Amino acid sequence: MTSSSFKGLRVKDLQVYYDTPEGVVKAVDGISFSLPQGKRLALVGESGSGKSTLSMALMRLTRAPGRIAGGNIFLDEDDILDLDVEEMRLARLSKISLVPQGAMNSLNPVLRIKDQILDGLFDHQVFGSKKITKDEQLSKVNELLSAVELLPSVADMYPHELSGGMKQRVAIAIATSMDPKVIVADEPTSALDVVVQRTVMQTLGRLQEGLEASIVLVGHDMGLVAQFADFVGVMYAGRMVELGPVNSVFEKPLHPYTRLLIRSLPTLENKEDFVGIPGLPPPLLNLPPGCTFCTRFGRENKNTPPWKEISKDHWISECEVCSDIGK
Ligand SMILES: Nc1ncnc2c1ncn2[C@@H]1O[C@H](COP(=O)(O)OP(=O)(O)OP(=O)(O)O)[C@@H](O)[C@H]1O
Ligand SMILES: [Mg+2]
Repeated sequence: MTSSSFKGLRVKDLQVYYDTPEGVVKAVDGISFSLPQGKRLALVGESGSGKSTLSMALMRLTRAPGRIAGGNIFLDEDDILDLDVEEMRLARLSKISLVPQGAMNSLNPVLRIKDQILDGLFDHQVFGSKKITKDEQLSKVNELLSAVELLPSVADMYPHELSGGMKQRVAIAIATSMDPKVIVADEPTSALDVVVQRTVMQTLGRLQEGLEASIVLVGHDMGLVAQFADFVGVMYAGRMVELGPVNSVFEKPLHPYTRLLIRSLPTLENKEDFVGIPGLPPPLLNLPPGCTFCTRFGRENKNTPPWKEISKDHWISECEVCSDIGK
């Protein structure tokens, strides 16, 4: 497939840095991946590995002291980094939309749910220049609420009157209100209990399929995302260390970090002994080039490992110095 006919989201060598008084934090340090339209990619990795920084950059919502320092983000053929501010504002919600980390707290506490849903639609002039009646507005709101399995009565409520799961459903209704082709969901269910998590994920998945949208789902939990995603991307210290079809990554993890992450998943057999990953990720401040996983184990490879496709759609950051760890 030539790159010009690719449909979906394609990220090339993306770099997002934070300029701090102490130096540059390379929170996303040269990440590349392709996600075909309609497919689901889950991003996993320890806290601080750069998942939210990447998600916000995909929306071009990086704020100071952060900046997108290089790379490309193609939606189909267009690089959204080339859009001007107004074009990007219009692309958000209609082409690419975000369910932010802690989305349930992102709702405005003093606005009724219907007004929060309508806000984005008016902003994008979805109803065009024609004057639409209150009834027409409400029927659009009800349609969106029912798509996330909420009752019409929710329209008149304030966020504090809703449970966490309901608020999360409202955030999903807003994110899908303009039929975007890419949905970025940053830990959309992490504040919810497991049963509610599952039902909210089912709703999100059903909507995404209906829209034939791609979804980038951020989550800590390998086990949870494995059930949902087609592809999994493993992030470590601002880089992608492994990316591939979920089955392939779980059955044959190629990067040592992925192997250790999978091993640290609780199973019925090992529930007595919690298996963590030894050591800590390196501080991202003024990070020198080279393999950042080696340093966790007291090894050294001064060359940044190349990003290689080992088998179809299965990529790793290949370092010969640490490749035996976790085998
Ligand atoms: N405003 C900021 N200024 C400086 N550094 C920042 C800023 N925001 C994030 N960082 C750093 O960028 C790195 C990546 O953070 P990010 O929030 O993207 O990680 P994450 O993978 O989403 O973590 P979590 O799983 O905890 O949500 C961290 O080292 C963090 O300290
Ligand atoms: Mg995060």
